[in-house]
Amino acid sequence: MNDRYAFARALAREAGAVALDYFNRREQLVVELKGPGDFVSIADRDVEQLIRRELATAFPNDRFLGEETAGEFVGAFDRCWVVDPIDGTHNFLRGIPYWNVAIAYVENASAQIGVVLDPSHDELFHAVRGGGAWCDSRGKTKRLHTAATDTLDGAFVGSGHHDRSPDSRYLDVRRKMMAAGVAMRNFGSAALQLAHVAAGRLDGFIELDLSIWDAIGGLALVEEAGGYTAPFAPSHATDRSACLGCAPEIAAALVELTKPFV
Ligand code: IPD
Repeated sequence: MNDRYAFARALAREAGAVALDYFNRREQLVVELKGPGDFVSIADRDVEQLIRRELATAFPNDRFLGEETAGEFVGAFDRCWVVDPIDGTHNFLRGIPYWNVAIAYVENASAQIGVVLDPSHDELFHAVRGGGAWCDSRGKTKRLHTAATDTLDGAFVGSGHHDRSPDSRYLDVRRKMMAAGVAMRNFGSAALQLAHVAAGRLDGFIELDLSIWDAIGGLALVEEAGGYTAPFAPSHATDRSACLGCAPEIAAALVELTKPFV
């Protein structure tokens, strides 16, 4: 696993440099719509192709599931790299530096490696199963721990919601969170919000309908940082599912609050 782990970190850096170059000249990008409120540009596609190419050369027997080519994915979901080339595309296209390159490696339906790179802030969040969660930034490496927060009152929780899916369940969850005194944010990139849960910056993150490439690596970061994650189990690798990751001491309360949706 260590060769894959080292490779994933280096590859995220390489892909992140290409993505950051596109970000810095984003006015030139032609923006397309994949569906209502669902944007894409050549930046997403180029970065995914780069990652896919490099992985195929280094690990030719591994499988690949990427956001931009997910429609092509068939077969078993094992020994599989799961990639979101730019998670937070809407932020990216608007010039908001809250997006990331997300790379995970899955075996036996569980993420063994999770890597989330925030190129705008030079932060590389990474974890390997059993090896802890870490952040490399400006030449330093720091171990990550989820927050010690033990009550929802005053907790700082990311509440993701994609623009393309009006869904009244979110109103119910938000109403309950407001009543519980939770400070809610949606920074618009699921994997990076999960990385920030791992780092203890956020106390939790919830999204009721999330794709695996937005979730699985970030959830591994939360687990390796000592946090709680609800089982993330889409019925098929390309289906969506509810995602919850948080500091361990607020897990029971957040699970109760999000019932029956998570
Ligand atoms: C999206 C972001 C967003 C979340 C959506 C995702 P994308 O990913 O993570 O925060 O609310 O559900 O689809 O499309 O920018 O890669």
